[in-house]
Amino acid sequence: MELSNEYLFKYKGTYFVSGITTPDYLDTLEDFEIRDSDVFLVTYPKSGTVWTQNILSLIYYEGHRNGTEEIESVDRMPWLDYNLRNVDFSKRESPRLIACHLPYYLVPKGLRNGKGKVIYVLRNPKDVLVSYYHFSKFTRTLEEIDFDVLMERFLDGKVVAGSWLDHVEGWSAHRDDFNILFLTYEEMKKDLRGSVLKICNFLGKKLTEEEVDAVVDNATFDKMKKDRRANYENMESDIVDHTRGSFLRKGIVGDWKNTMTVAQNERFDHVFKKRMEKLPFKFCDEL
Ligand code: A3P
Repeated sequence: MELSNEYLFKYKGTYFVSGITTPDYLDTLEDFEIRDSDVFLVTYPKSGTVWTQNILSLIYYEGHRNGTEEIESVDRMPWLDYNLRNVDFSKRESPRLIACHLPYYLVPKGLRNGKGKVIYVLRNPKDVLVSYYHFSKFTRTLEEIDFDVLMERFLDGKVVAGSWLDHVEGWSAHRDDFNILFLTYEEMKKDLRGSVLKICNFLGKKLTEEEVDAVVDNATFDKMKKDRRANYENMESDIVDHTRGSFLRKGIVGDWKNTMTVAQNERFDHVFKKRMEKLPFKFCDEL
């Protein structure tokens, strides 16, 4: 049965959040003009998007690194699929930093033809699910439901950005169409400096040792939790309910073990494991 409620709508095989984007707007993205210098961050929701948005802002902008600029990372690296602040992308200076949760087949065709660069960040789907569960209490844009009900929808792909497996498999299978770097949340946690260097290398950005130190220092969970440019502190209150926690929640690997029962874990594995084993990515459950 197709899920249709006031929170989500289905567009070309995947689900989007109602009220903050529309099918008509999404229709325009196919022909969105890509520049060679564009840097796209693509994620399935709750996989470390805001973290990587902040890292990219820190890499590209000295003022972000040294704290002299107040620009929020969501404005530095706006969402393409949810254009919350009505950015006119065509008027932005290059290099443009752009984030999205789109499946590979819905991104602008220029990007699919190898123009621009893509960083795809992925995370253990059990941690994604748990993070999504908590986020749905914090944001007003998602339905707040019991974990059990949410898990069934997640396994069925009836959540924002559709099926996790389809999203990851799609991007992974079409990697040759893109200029793409895959990174996992777990490796970023394990070796933040190494991950920052990987990103710099991929983007051809040469930072000094001190600049890399500043990026790493400002991208730690503790720093970001206090950084209002990165932690959604200024996000509109019709989108998030600031009285119900904060965007940066726990930021750990393996939190699913604190939430999922043995039975839920078995059910999850029953649906996901076979396809996950075929993916060229490994996700650890603890560091
Ligand atoms: P948790 O809910 O597990 O804490 P997204 O930005 O894609 O929505 O992902 C949100 C998740 O990334 C949240 O996970 C959030 O706490 C985590 N996160 C954000 N910044 C982080 C950082 N600097 N280090 C580790 N995790 C971070």
